Amino acid sequence: MRVTMPDNLHKWVLILLLVLLPTTLQAKIPDDIVCSNCHTMHNSQAGESMTSSSLYGLLLSTCSGCHTGLDGTSAIAANTQAPAVMHSSSAPGNSSGSNNMLAGGSFYWVSTTGGNTDNTGHNVIGLSSEDADLGTTPPGNSGTPLGSQLTCAGSRGCHGNSGIQNEVQALKAHHQDDTAPLDGSSVGMSYRFLSSVIGSEDADWEYTYASDDHNQYKGGSIWNSAATDTITSVCARCHGDYHGNPGVGTTGASPWVRHPTDIDLSTYGGEFANYITYEVFVPVASTTGLTLVDSNVQTAGNGIVTCISCHRAHGSQYDSILRWDYRAWPGTVDPIYGCGVCHSSKN
Ligand code: HEC
Ligand code: HEC
Ligand code: HEC
Ligand code: HEC
Ligand code: HEC
Repeated sequence: MRVTMPDNLHKWVLILLLVLLPTTLQAKIPDDIVCSNCHTMHNSQAGESMTSSSLYGLLLSTCSGCHTGLDGTSAIAANTQAPAVMHSSSAPGNSSGSNNMLAGGSFYWVSTTGGNTDNTGHNVIGLSSEDADLGTTPPGNSGTPLGSQLTCAGSRGCHGNSGIQNEVQALKAHHQDDTAPLDGSSVGMSYRFLSSVIGSEDADWEYTYASDDHNQYKGGSIWNSAATDTITSVCARCHGDYHGNPGVGTTGASPWVRHPTDIDLSTYGGEFANYITYEVFVPVASTTGLTLVDSNVQTAGNGIVTCISCHRAHGSQYDSILRWDYRAWPGTVDPIYGCGVCHSSKN
């Protein structure tokens, strides 16, 4: 005998979930969007045959499905209000006048839509084919490949718990309360779900920005910092030889064998003394990561060089995911030529 289910069973399931879940439920996901924009209860609706989805969390979409803006001007994806890190029809702006690209940049240029230019971004599975030159081996990782192509999160990605391979299971953070200050105690309480990393999150991901309106990153206080709560530690997990590895002979002072990171430019004086007001295109971290650096870059602990002082994390229109066109110097450049913001006498 067929058991008759009430038509609105799925609504009752949702209400039950709402009652059972803690009151911090909507802390991160905006209040004004319903569960069904992002979740499916039965993987079918109106008697359609069930899709055999492999998505965890009863999600309707993958990470990039939710985080894609329709055009280059969207800061957030319309349906889910998720920050847009991929753009499906046109490239987001990236100049010193407008920054429709959010802080991490966009996967647009490395994606199939944007031309599949391998070295303009991290070749994340689903957005781009495997990097033809680099394959799955991160440069600066002693030639050791990842087990498969990059993912957004988990052990083969940047976000979430690096001990778990499945990217949704590695997160479990979207619904968590993340009231500042972030202390890195869980993925949700970490800077941008980068597990254990500390920092201050700009509310619109630097869609609008100024010297006193930006993300604040946390930096290490020595070139071979082993800290795991800094923004550079995220990159060092896969590109370790480009950071602290002392095997790559250097004494931690000039002459360097690789461009140093986790060092504070305010301790060097000279040409660096002219970098006074925070420049969002060439970000520097601070030792706490909690108070915004504004016109006090030269205060000790406020001028720390990080990997993302020069690179975007997701993608940009330039080679090596750089923030500006490294090879175009000294020409007329927009966005500003970033090397010269710190090395002012070379500009
Ligand atoms: C069903 C839609 C959806 C899916 C799937 C999704 N996200 Fe999100 N994500 C959102 C929304 C909405 C927000 C904005 C919430 C907020 O920050 O207030 C967000 C925010 C984020 C943020 C920024 C958090 C912050 O501190 O501002 C990160 C990072 C992120 N998601 C990563 C991921 C990754 C990685 C995946 C895949 C494992 C993923 N998301 C899957 C909807 C989604
Ligand atoms: C989970 C491992 C992983 C993490 C974490 C990671 N990367 Fe990568 N990265 C890779 C792999 C794999 C490649 C080569 C394939 C590709 O380009 O996707 C790569 C390539 C690059 C490239 C060269 C792109 C090209 O194709 O020429 C740059 C630049 C880069 N990463 C910078 C960074 C920065 C900056 C961070 C920290 C914000 C970071 N990476 C974090 C794995 C990682
Ligand atoms: C804007 C998209 C979005 C909306 C709206 C949304 N969720 Fe989620 N939810 C997600 C994403 C993305 C994940 C998986 C990744 C994660 O947990 O970080 C998730 C995970 C979950 C999980 C399991 C994992 C966890 O974090 O505990 C539950 C349960 C859940 N959601 C319930 C709900 C309920 C109930 C509603 C409505 C009140 C709702 N969600 C609305 C995006 C959304
Ligand atoms: C001072 C600016 C600057 C900083 C800081 C910096 N990079 Fe780079 N990076 C560059 C430039 C410029 C290139 C491309 C030209 C070159 O290879 O010399 C590059 C290239 C790369 C590449 C591509 C190498 C290849 O074989 O294709 C990777 C990967 C990379 N950087 C990762 C990192 C990581 C990880 C950090 C932090 C530990 C970092 N970078 C810090 C400027 C920087
Ligand atoms: C965020 C600030 C910052 C940016 C951006 C930056 N640098 Fe540097 N750079 C430094 C600091 C600080 C040092 C260490 C100086 C020292 O040891 O005397 C350094 C060191 C160097 C050195 C080594 C000098 C030596 O004595 O060994 C070179 C070369 C260099 N940078 C080139 C570049 C180039 C090229 C770019 C642009 C791709 C760049 N830098 C961008 C801050 C920066």
